[in-house]
Amino acid sequence: MCDTQHLLHSHHHGPEFILDTPVMRDFIAEVKAAIAAGGTVEEAIERFKPAFSALMEDPTWLPEEYMTDAVESGMGGGIGQWALYRAQDGSLCLFSLVVPPGKSTPIHDHLAWGLIGLYRGTQDEDVYAHEAGHEHVHLKSSNKIEEGGFFALIPPDDDIHQITTTSDVTSVSLHLLTNDTGCIWRHRFDQETGLPSPFRSGYVNAECDDDHEHDHPHDPAHSHSH
Ligand SMILES: [Fe+2]
Repeated sequence: MCDTQHLLHSHHHGPEFILDTPVMRDFIAEVKAAIAAGGTVEEAIERFKPAFSALMEDPTWLPEEYMTDAVESGMGGGIGQWALYRAQDGSLCLFSLVVPPGKSTPIHDHLAWGLIGLYRGTQDEDVYAHEAGHEHVHLKSSNKIEEGGFFALIPPDDDIHQITTTSDVTSVSLHLLTNDTGCIWRHRFDQETGLPSPFRSGYVNAECDDDHEHDHPHDPAHSHSH
């Protein structure tokens, strides 16, 4: 898995701290220390979970703009990923995912482990898994996520899901993932057939470096959009 993850990392030239505050710097430092201490993914998560919980319980550190529906976004439906932190080497990111009431993300993967916490609202999470030996995915379990709730994403078993907001307010979840999730090429899965197609969600407020688009064979050739 480590080799695979390494291949998926992509360096970028944007700012590391998009939300550059002492709270963010302290939190990211704690997460990096927890990961650097080694051991299993589960152990690393246990180490930085208290810091993550503190962030979830603090209503003051995240400006309202990062909890706002995104009119234009890679996920559609006003759903957006607001980048808060992106490691320059593509090994870690923190973003808020906003999903308006009643809207669902596509079924999608992340291709890296991480921890997600629900900061505002409520969500249904449908977890999908690959049919053994097949390309398509099928529904594995459904979870109701309450405000303050956590769930871990750990590939390959728990990496594919679909999020639906069940509250009458836009749900806001905080995603801490060990790649540059918005900018890597990953997959979305067809609602009917469960078959994958290439997917890059982007961030509402941060650019992806175009020089990595050649990493993906399905990419439109050298389209520079900025
Ligand atoms: Fe997700």
